[in-house]
Amino acid sequence: MGYVGSRPALGIVLDGLRRLEYRGYDSAGVAVVAAGRLLTEKRAGKLANLEKILAESPTAGIADGVTAIGHTRWATHGGPTDRNAHPHMSRDGRVAVIHNGIIENFAKLRTELEAEGVEFASDTDTECAAHLLAAELAKQGEPSAEGLAAAMRRVCQRLEGAFTLLAVDSAVPGAVVGARRNSPLVVGRGSGENYLASDVSAFIEHTREAVELGQDQVVLITPKGIEITDFSGQPATGKDFHIDWDASAAEKGGYDYFMLKEIAEQPQAVADTLLGRLGENGEIALDEVRLTDQDLRDVDKVFIVACGTAYHAGLVAKYAIEHWTRVPCEVELASEFRYRDPVLDRSTLVVAISQSGETMDTLMALRHAKEQKARVLAICNTNGSTIPRESDAVLYTHAGPEIAVASTKAFLTQLVACYLVGLHLAQVRGIKYADEVAAVVAQLQEMPGKLQEVLGTMEPVRELARSLAEAKSVLFIGRHVGYPVALEGALKLKELAYMHAEGFAAGELKHGPIALIDEGCPVVCVVPSPAGRGVLHDKIVSNIQEVRARGAQTIVIAEEGDDDVVPYADHLVRVPRTPTLLAPLVTTVPLQVLACEIAAARGHDVDQPRNLAKSVTVE
Ligand code: G6P
Repeated sequence: MGYVGSRPALGIVLDGLRRLEYRGYDSAGVAVVAAGRLLTEKRAGKLANLEKILAESPTAGIADGVTAIGHTRWATHGGPTDRNAHPHMSRDGRVAVIHNGIIENFAKLRTELEAEGVEFASDTDTECAAHLLAAELAKQGEPSAEGLAAAMRRVCQRLEGAFTLLAVDSAVPGAVVGARRNSPLVVGRGSGENYLASDVSAFIEHTREAVELGQDQVVLITPKGIEITDFSGQPATGKDFHIDWDASAAEKGGYDYFMLKEIAEQPQAVADTLLGRLGENGEIALDEVRLTDQDLRDVDKVFIVACGTAYHAGLVAKYAIEHWTRVPCEVELASEFRYRDPVLDRSTLVVAISQSGETMDTLMALRHAKEQKARVLAICNTNGSTIPRESDAVLYTHAGPEIAVASTKAFLTQLVACYLVGLHLAQVRGIKYADEVAAVVAQLQEMPGKLQEVLGTMEPVRELARSLAEAKSVLFIGRHVGYPVALEGALKLKELAYMHAEGFAAGELKHGPIALIDEGCPVVCVVPSPAGRGVLHDKIVSNIQEVRARGAQTIVIAEEGDDDVVPYADHLVRVPRTPTLLAPLVTTVPLQVLACEIAAARGHDVDQPRNLAKSVTVE
């Protein structure tokens, strides 16, 4: 984050960093320009460590400066230590730089700089940028804000890879310069003050007017204005936008953790994502998606790419899309897709799912798809982020800001968006399931109410979580759409409780994983509705018996009224009756609560699990 204005900058930047901390939290640092000097402080560990030092023994004058930059880090090059924390300074102490991304040619640059006699104070790739910037500034005459921007442009021309850089120059108080390539950076427009940040939550408390930057741009903020150019110095214009949620949306609002708040917000998030998209006659209205009906009729294959939880949403989508549309649908991890040779052409619809819209793996997969002329539709929760900007079309989820690192409400809204895409495709193409589609539309409208019901019955899950806090390993099994739900349940537990957890297709158990089961091993079984797909239901009831016969402690997630499971369930969690394809919306919720409560019982930081970051902008 960067700030320039007339108010003391330190507190503003620290508040902003607190809101951005979910992006990375293994070290934190600030640099303030005050009385012609650069005052910096940085510490390994969470932001709280830095705040403690600043409160107990503040560097003299640091609270007075009105220009500052600050950073929370998720380590790529160099471990999470004090010396590797950002900002990084030039040797003469004139400039301080913070960075998000990876400078891929840093080894070459470092060798070059060392040959010129520059001594490095850290193991980071970022430090190169500080030395290069100082060298560019040293070539200039009288220091000026324009000179700082020009120097940054020259540095950017030498860097390869992905970067958002912010820098301040002690000789130019009242200016912060930023640059971006492949990493996020937005400008906050204030009055007599301006902001730069990785996302708008950092400055939402101060202004709701923001400016989106393009690729390969440099931005200079001063109290008076915002100047944007490309890397060669040509003036550019950013896109102004208004942020339509307020600061309280990014506050805990009485909950112990953001994750609990976000779990509780799911009925609303699902309702908001459906809002305005279900027409009165059961048709799906996706007017904002800039793909014509003809474009959609031409689609002969759907390819979904995503990472982490978003990938699990994609796995569910495959079942729904193929069933409703009869168009083949493949789902692949973006990081795998990007480095192979998938069969795509202009009649392939690639759906890129990403909460943040900034995940580098997904972005690279999208570009890989576009190179092969595929059309790309983004499903995204973040307005104006890179992935939707580079896609041909976008369907926004309306989950609101998601702060906890482990995704919950964004996942449910991604499922909803996938259903909408599938139903819309089916309607436009006029296939034989059109009647079923109309029924599903009505069922979708009931989902917020059903989710509210599920949330009202979570107390036994909380109790169960406490009893599982010491388990060595937890297995999750499911079939059909219950299989991705099992994967998601296991991922949540890994992320939050640092426990061994694995999701399996229940039918695969007997081909290997069943060997893992020993006395007392908890197995979470996601059971489909007995209505509709009776065979599937019966098969999983058999699987539950198989694991129980081998000593497993069974935790069964099943519909109201499903009595078949009762004899085999050591713990039974009920969810409302829901058609099979939509069931992941309700069956996922108990698994989220389970993981959250187990993690809390084990004393972990639920919102900021170790080693993770919410938005991973490196490959
Ligand atoms: C990170 C997060 C995950 C998330 C994944 C994809 O790994 O820790 O929770 O699912 O990125 O994020 P995206 O923003 O692309 O949905």
